[in-house]
Amino acid sequence: MFVRNAWYVAGWADEIGVTPLARRICNEPVVLFRDSRNRAAALLDMCCHRGAPLHIGKVVEQGLQCGYHGLVFDHSGACVHVPGQEHILERTRVRSFPVVEQDAFVWIWMGDPAKADPHKIVRWPYHNDTVNWPHKHTMYPIKAAAMLMVDNLMDLTHLGYVHVSTIGGNPTQHVEAKMDVERTSLGVKFTRWMLNSVPPPTYVKAVGFQGRIDRCQRFEFVAPGSVLQWTGASDAGGYRDGDTSDSKLAFRLYHALTPETDTSCFYFWSAANGFRQDEPAATEQFFEQVAAAFLEDKTVVEAQQTRLAELGESALVDIASDSVRLHMRRTMERLLAEEAQQPLAAE
Ligand code: FES
Ligand SMILES: [Fe+2]
Repeated sequence: MFVRNAWYVAGWADEIGVTPLARRICNEPVVLFRDSRNRAAALLDMCCHRGAPLHIGKVVEQGLQCGYHGLVFDHSGACVHVPGQEHILERTRVRSFPVVEQDAFVWIWMGDPAKADPHKIVRWPYHNDTVNWPHKHTMYPIKAAAMLMVDNLMDLTHLGYVHVSTIGGNPTQHVEAKMDVERTSLGVKFTRWMLNSVPPPTYVKAVGFQGRIDRCQRFEFVAPGSVLQWTGASDAGGYRDGDTSDSKLAFRLYHALTPETDTSCFYFWSAANGFRQDEPAATEQFFEQVAAAFLEDKTVVEAQQTRLAELGESALVDIASDSVRLHMRRTMERLLAEEAQQPLAAE
């Protein structure tokens, strides 16, 4: 079950071009493409003539041409050309989904189109600021429910165990990190302070820390699928008064989890470095480190999904470090319950 009246990341803007891209989102087959006016568009990936998937067609001047008998659909899903037929019936159309291109993402709305308000899309201006925040991004297909990946990001005590050789560090320091938690209308924010701690390998590689560091991680979950991350570190003592503005190391990560099916998702993530910005090799090296760390998450979460599918969740026990994760889950349950009260207009 998915929250549908919400914006999800459908793809990176640079993934979507004139070659149609098939992507299942919230269990619906969608085809993404750019029309001849460079507008990103999303249609149900099934032609309304005989049901061929539209992604096997191609983009032509007027829109997306089905690869079976040549019907053409524009970005709104209206059929604009039927070979050998003058008059086109009004109902010759496929469902379209609202899309918005913003901050290097293409966002899609899977619910009632009348409720799709673009102002509600999470902003991430770092993606547009290549001078101060050069970034790289990618997408990992994950064979696990999107919520298991969000769970992973809401309980960072896993860093000391899963990411020992990359972004992790000492497990005890992670478990003992001081946490400030704030609830929001669409999720939860938290800040973790790890003062006077041992720097993880990624941090040392990035800026060459010699001794202990003060480390601060701010995370925000925005339902249903965004986790925003602001991270900084300074030499030990630098954050004693709680001010992180003078960080030696700063980076910004965006984690977007978009459900594919009940047990698979797309993990869109970006890494923007606020250090050594004029060295492309630094951006590359940082990205490679984060990429390796997130593969570690993928491995453990996919294994978790396999076991949960086999044995279920009824015997699982929550511990102290689950408190933020539980708030996130409660937010999702509330949104699902609210939607259940208001059936979708499109259904
Ligand atoms: S199935 Fe698409 S044109 Fe016939
Ligand atoms: Fe992780």
